[in-house]
Amino acid sequence: MSDDRSETVVADRTLHTDRYERRWMLVSAVLLVVFAIAVAVAGFALGFQVPGVEARVDPNTVAESGPFANPGLRDLGNNEFEVYMVAKAWAFDPASITVPVGATVTFYVTSVDVQHGFKLRDTNVNLQIVPGHVSKLSTTFDRAGEFPFICTEFCGLGHSAMFGSLVVEEPEG
Ligand code: CUA
Repeated sequence: MSDDRSETVVADRTLHTDRYERRWMLVSAVLLVVFAIAVAVAGFALGFQVPGVEARVDPNTVAESGPFANPGLRDLGNNEFEVYMVAKAWAFDPASITVPVGATVTFYVTSVDVQHGFKLRDTNVNLQIVPGHVSKLSTTFDRAGEFPFICTEFCGLGHSAMFGSLVVEEPEG
């Protein structure tokens, strides 16, 4: 019997791969390169940050001592600020923050009860707030205005009332 598939299957003599298989391997390799470029552009050119776990804490005691016992804005000088924020059902503490134009603000947020979210409108700050973890992200405010923030994880009956606001002001004078 002759091989009647010989006309439709063209085998690569070295890798023993079908022509179509080779094409799909090439497409896969090109996609990997495209994804690598996309990650590099997002990370280095667009300033995307992957929110990581900055520290692990005990949610039962985190608000009793240390920076989360006195949540709020810290002025580090040189237009650098830190915000230590406690999320709990159903409020953020602090719920209102004011910084000057040009401020670079690093947010440290933790939860003392259930999982919450922290999304700051018109910025790339979007954090998952997990009890036991401190989530950290920095952003710079280049224009004056109000930047509302909301909880983005359903956390119970009062979830929709869990929000606050960051105001960026023009410097005086
Ligand atoms: Cu907190 Cu939803």
